[in-house]
Amino acid sequence: MLNIALPKGRLGEKVLGMFERAGFECPAIHEENRRLFFENEALGLRYFWVKPSDVSIYVERGAADIGVAGKDILLEYAPDVYELLDLNVGRCRMCVAGPKSYRDDLGRTLRVATKFSNIASRYYSSLGRDIDIIPLNGSIELAPILGLSDVIVDIVETGTTLKENDLAVLETIVPISARLIANKASFVFHKTRIEALVRALAQEVET
Ligand code: PRP
Repeated sequence: MLNIALPKGRLGEKVLGMFERAGFECPAIHEENRRLFFENEALGLRYFWVKPSDVSIYVERGAADIGVAGKDILLEYAPDVYELLDLNVGRCRMCVAGPKSYRDDLGRTLRVATKFSNIASRYYSSLGRDIDIIPLNGSIELAPILGLSDVIVDIVETGTTLKENDLAVLETIVPISARLIANKASFVFHKTRIEALVRALAQEVET
């Protein structure tokens, strides 16, 4: 069995479609129920849905042989996995955002609210800028509105959340998209199958 961790939600449905068109279908996954894992014994596949930010943990520890994770998660947690293919879906960007009129005052430490502390720290240390990270788990946009932080480092997709909260992108740090990742030992053990999957999936990637 090849164990495949997919991110639950809209991105996962899109990615599943790509796997199916690449010949890795699993009819059981379309049945209406609350199951979290689905098998196609004939093809030797087992899919399971996990929280998007958990995919890389399953793959790194070998509970999944392969999976699909956002580049944001790979940059933030640096899991020890192989990154095999950019699927070019789930596209967004990691940005610094804040009030439209915000001007950085280099004389003081910048307060940055984020779910992505490592990405933010690396970015600002590359600029030589001292920052104070305020780690939050969601609704990051509230932080500068309430004066908890000066700016945020967060994902921007359509820009609607920022706009509706009177915030704007101040700087783009890095573009993000979904990546096919593999457990390092599984990649050796299932090399032929995984390489065939990568080739077939690559045909489904829209550029
Ligand atoms: C992300 C991100 C922004 C929003 C951006 O949040 O943190 O809040 O999406 O999308 P937009 O540019 O299309 O408006 P998510 O929906 O993942 O929820 P979260 O607040 O729990 O992180």
